[in-house]
Amino acid sequence: MARRTVLTEMGPFIVQPMVWQDVSEVMAIERLSFPLPWPKHAYRYELEENDLSHYIVVRERARETAQERPARWWHRFWSPRRTAPVLGYGGFWMMAGEAHVSTLAVHPDWRGRGLGELLLLTMLKRAIAMEAAIATLEVRASNRVAQALYRKYGFRMAGVRPRYYRDNKEDALIMTVEALRTPAYRARLEALEAALRERLARAVPSPEAMASG
Ligand SMILES: CC(C)(COP(=O)(O)OP(=O)(O)OC[C@H]1O[C@@H](n2cnc3c(N)ncnc32)[C@H](O)[C@@H]1OP(=O)(O)O)[C@@H](O)C(=O)NCCC(=O)NCCS
Repeated sequence: MARRTVLTEMGPFIVQPMVWQDVSEVMAIERLSFPLPWPKHAYRYELEENDLSHYIVVRERARETAQERPARWWHRFWSPRRTAPVLGYGGFWMMAGEAHVSTLAVHPDWRGRGLGELLLLTMLKRAIAMEAAIATLEVRASNRVAQALYRKYGFRMAGVRPRYYRDNKEDALIMTVEALRTPAYRARLEALEAALRERLARAVPSPEAMASG
């Protein structure tokens, strides 16, 4: 199996482009995170047909190296797990200079450890590298945790879509950063990245990762 690209590496964590093999794990996190989870075919479309989309996953690095162990004859019939579990994921659509964050979620057991930030930072840096000038997203009015994360990265409220969510008719807040390419925003992102790198450098790998790395 070819080694997958690593987009960002911090402490024990790596961020990689999402591939179809990740989708079952992504959907499990999705079901734990959102009242209206996307169906599987939406991910197939995003990964295989939508040229505008960029999806990523975060996992621990140590277990990734387990795949380099020598293959056994019985691996022809049954392969042991080759990659560490997906801990979170995110995606954006890149449209005419605008990056629209379409989704972001971290497994409930792994929240509050900087992984949401790692995913958002990776998406913003990729969007800037693709010449995005502005980033936008929608977030539930009641989702204070996500709003705090977005505000930390410079997003500000730009409007409301009333009764946007089908399940409870909740409003969506539209949040944007309009200055992605300015020196001031780049400096802000660099400072946030340095702080996150320091935080994640102190993260302790899980016992599973230690055992198989
Ligand atoms: C939103 C989400 C992705 C954040 O991921 P996370 O890994 O828990 O967040 P992080 O540990 O990276 O925290 C980054 C920032 O988010 C905010 N945040 C995280 N947890 C928070 C909490 N319990 N209360 C308030 N703010 C919080 C803070 O601004 C935090 O920065 P800080 O550590 O400097 O205070 C995660 O909570 C999640 O998956 N929620 C369910 C799905 C969802 O709502 N997605 C967003 C859809 S728009």
